[in-house]
Amino acid sequence: MAIDYRQTIPNNVGLDDNRALQRALEHWQPRFLDWWREMGPSGSHNYEVYLRTAIAVDNEGWAKYGMVRMPEYRWGIFLADPVPDRLIGFGDSFGEKVWQQVPGEHRANLRRLIVTQGDTEPASVEQQRQLGLTCPSLYDLRNLFQVNVEEGRHLWAMVYLLHAYFGRDGREEAEELLARQSGDADKPRILGTFNEPIADWLSFFMFTYFTDRDGRYQLKSLAESAFDPLSRTCRFMLTEEAYHMFVGRTGITRVFKRTIEVMKALGSEDPADIRAAGAIDLPTLQRYINFWFSSSLDLFGAEISSNAATYFATGIKGRPDEGQFNDHVVLGERLLIDMPDRDGRVVPEAVPLRNAMNEVARTAYIADCDIGIRYWNRLIAEAGYDFPLALPSPRFHRSVGVWADIHTDPQGNPISDQRRAILSRDWLPSTEDRAFVGSLMQRVIKPGKVAAWLASPEIGIDNRPASYEYVRLN
Ligand SMILES: [Fe+2]
Ligand SMILES: [Fe+2]
Repeated sequence: MAIDYRQTIPNNVGLDDNRALQRALEHWQPRFLDWWREMGPSGSHNYEVYLRTAIAVDNEGWAKYGMVRMPEYRWGIFLADPVPDRLIGFGDSFGEKVWQQVPGEHRANLRRLIVTQGDTEPASVEQQRQLGLTCPSLYDLRNLFQVNVEEGRHLWAMVYLLHAYFGRDGREEAEELLARQSGDADKPRILGTFNEPIADWLSFFMFTYFTDRDGRYQLKSLAESAFDPLSRTCRFMLTEEAYHMFVGRTGITRVFKRTIEVMKALGSEDPADIRAAGAIDLPTLQRYINFWFSSSLDLFGAEISSNAATYFATGIKGRPDEGQFNDHVVLGERLLIDMPDRDGRVVPEAVPLRNAMNEVARTAYIADCDIGIRYWNRLIAEAGYDFPLALPSPRFHRSVGVWADIHTDPQGNPISDQRRAILSRDWLPSTEDRAFVGSLMQRVIKPGKVAAWLASPEIGIDNRPASYEYVRLN
């Protein structure tokens, strides 16, 4: 179904035919705009930004590009086209027809999943709101804003589901999504990582690489849902989400390229020399990877989870890419999971697979994260340096799950509190690291110019040159 842009709320869900829902969403819309003005990108409201806007939901040519003032962005409700005769793909109701309405017995769980996903979308916009003031280039500034408006649209996607299928509770939840605030002491966002400040652009690239990728795996799991409107919403969100990870992957790659360039020019690998030349040394980059990777792992939840088992059994949340598995019911199957003994050493335990679904998703995510690590390692090795990066062990620096209270080194070996106090500055960004990275954050807004701590982008957006004036700062 095509997207109708003549309406106050662009949509392809036939909002015109449902007056009550249309009115409810039109009531929510000004609150969303107030939130955007207050909590969206700082000082950006008069900028004209070269943004993509969805115009269709098919794979080819779904977006158009043009200069837009962000408060005038056409946020809307877009669902992927329905799959005809779609059947439930996993769990106890495997092979039955998918649901077009919410079954009463699954209402509370579905609402919780939708609210938790929805909460991350505005949270990340809030986390990133000051970054525009220190953008390393207009190209990067535009990418930040593209990510921000799309996270805003993802909020719309979840609010639509709440309003359309959850009655009064849903409308109240939609209000709450604008009331919580990232990092707020009294009303924080639901998940820990979404309350971490994103104070510098290195963190932004790490966030879009690691944390948006967690989002990708959550959306993949929800795209399998028996609740068809949720599945269709998530399928279209995944199309948009791919770009956010592109921003992360290419952003980090440009930082590595610049660092290697400086190492070569100076003939030195000494972090102090690299820093003095205005680039970010490799050990600091590894520490940022350690931080954002381990923090993002927590988002998958506990290793053994009865909630995850229920979600799977009832058909409301599947495994990412459920279609790649042979058995979609998995009764009686077990998965070996690394559990800690009293000293924090690994003791594998065979856990019923349905209770281990978080771990299944986390494992797929880790393999996906590793692709970037291997690519950056190639860049470093090809330049002749011996500094292999690695993802830390999933046991390292965890705040959620069975490893939460256990201190390990990045290889996952248990360590004493004392040793941890001494060594953690080698493993995680220290106050000094953050201050140094912060000191590099200077605003560069001349078209085609890029800050000294990262390389220029290889290609521009929508076939424009990298030097195009992607943002007009009016
Ligand atoms: Fe999103
Ligand atoms: Fe995203």
